[in-house]
Amino acid sequence: MYEWLNALPKAELHMHLEGSLEPELLFRLAERNRIGLPWENVDALRSAYAFNNLQAFLDLYYQGADVLRTEQDFYDLTWAYLQKCKAQNVVHTEPFFDPQTHTDRGIPFEVVVRGISQALKDGERQLGVKSALILSFLRHLSEDQAQATLDQALPYRDTFVAVGLDSSEKGHPPSKFKRVFDRARSEGFFAVAHAGEEGPPEYIWEALDLLKIQRIDHGVRAIEDERLMQRIIDEQIPLTVCPLSNIKLCVFDHMAKHNILDMLERGVKVTVNSDDPAYFGGYVTENFEALHTHLGMTQQQAQRLAQNSLDARLVK
Ligand code: ADE
Ligand code: ZN
Repeated sequence: MYEWLNALPKAELHMHLEGSLEPELLFRLAERNRIGLPWENVDALRSAYAFNNLQAFLDLYYQGADVLRTEQDFYDLTWAYLQKCKAQNVVHTEPFFDPQTHTDRGIPFEVVVRGISQALKDGERQLGVKSALILSFLRHLSEDQAQATLDQALPYRDTFVAVGLDSSEKGHPPSKFKRVFDRARSEGFFAVAHAGEEGPPEYIWEALDLLKIQRIDHGVRAIEDERLMQRIIDEQIPLTVCPLSNIKLCVFDHMAKHNILDMLERGVKVTVNSDDPAYFGGYVTENFEALHTHLGMTQQQAQRLAQNSLDARLVK
């Protein structure tokens, strides 16, 4: 089944580039940039990847991103991910990057975006992997800081197609970012937002009604609100679901309890994604495989999930 799932043409719509930083590359970049690390080796770092919740993961994720310093580092990070796409027949990807994670450490926006976008261009030409980049705001920071990030990004407007919202969800509702999303949309960008991962269904309503998003990232807690379920089915609003992430971050106790196939059978436009593959134990194919192993996903269901991912692209 793995080989069959791997060969299925698919799009990936929820993947944080900083979350694709494999321990081996993290150690290589630390050495290249002469940065000391608190872990003795790759295995020690990997064994730190045990999380009880989103925040525990984010603490390590931001710490890991500190090894990314130069344009070449961002290029190498993105290129490694694109090679995985090629190997797993991901024909189109819409990855996130978190500029504030880098600009707040003194790395110029330009360094980040140039390294990433050059790799994405080369990926399309040399590997045949199409892509469209999403600039994601960190929701634990203020809306003014998001506005300043958008200001910095506008001179590079040709390098990304959408804005997103990620980081610590609880206590940081989408309503906090209404004005910056209004401005980004008026500048011609698409909008997506993480909502309903750890946060309540109300955050999904806000993301739809206030941020006017095209897709919901995660959204698995929509199932707690029947009226919301009806809306996302009626309007065919895509959900970018990340099964392995949800288990690693304890959103569900076990993969056998994941609701993605129930949602699919109810007519929700759900898709399968890896979120932070270096931290959660796999790329897209491994996420599909886990659904087969633990939920009995059939080949026909896998085909519908893959087709949903192609249908839900922002850029066709
Ligand atoms: N940043 C990277 N991965 C994330 C996730 N799963 N939720 C929120 N922010 C993130
Ligand atoms: Zn995410």
